[in-house]
Amino acid sequence: MEALNQAKEAVADRIGTPDVALVLGSGLGDYANGLDGAHAIPYGEIPHMPLSSVEGHAGNLVTGQKAGKRIIAMQGRAHLYEGNSPGEVAFGVRLMAILGAKTLIVTNAAGGIGPRLEPGALMAITDQLNLTGASSLVGPNDKHQGARFLDMTTAFDPALIETASTVAVAQGFELQRGVYAGLLGPAYETPAEVRMLRTLGADAVGMSTVLEVLAARHMGVRVLGISCISNLAAGLSGSPLSHEEVQESARRVRPRFESLLSGVLEAM
Ligand code: HPA
Repeated sequence: MEALNQAKEAVADRIGTPDVALVLGSGLGDYANGLDGAHAIPYGEIPHMPLSSVEGHAGNLVTGQKAGKRIIAMQGRAHLYEGNSPGEVAFGVRLMAILGAKTLIVTNAAGGIGPRLEPGALMAITDQLNLTGASSLVGPNDKHQGARFLDMTTAFDPALIETASTVAVAQGFELQRGVYAGLLGPAYETPAEVRMLRTLGADAVGMSTVLEVLAARHMGVRVLGISCISNLAAGLSGSPLSHEEVQESARRVRPRFESLLSGVLEAM
């Protein structure tokens, strides 16, 4: 909590109270530059904020307005596979929550497993499988932040999913729905692991998001999750996976992703 307060104090005078927090995943960070009156604070200027070392993740906390909402956005995130602790992975989300954001929209690039989850598809996350082997809630519980034993029955807000689906239809496409499995990484899955994930009920797979969602729900923040399907999961197509392909694909869905995001911000 001390670390969070220090981070909050370092940025609070430059940031009003946000309405909505965004975490922008691989290849999706540019959305923040289009906010009205965008103002970026590099993670390096924020005490205790872990830096993102991943290519395609800029590493700024950006504030601005969209559709009359005050937005705070993470342009790039910290991952477990970079060597960050679960608490570090969730730090940015907790910071945006103590700055006052009541809603979080988490986004990511993910591999598609389920039907209709081909590259270019957008998927509202209906539920998650935390298969990282870690939790951002381990350790002493600060009861001012949230409960020790957190209910995760409706981690992803059904009303926000409905809103997003309605916006997508109005924009002329179908928003898919499915379960996101979050794994440690950094290797992509083996085909056997992808078959396992399918059996477990996963529709999409990635290396982020799940620990952020735990922290957000712990702090009572409503969550909408959007996965940009950047590739078929390993073994489902003939070709090997690469970060370049993931980034390139995310870049290609960006226009649709960005109009969905703007539409959702307007509708909420
Ligand atoms: N697996 C894990 N993480 C990912 C993938 C994938 O296929 N695509 C984008 N992020």
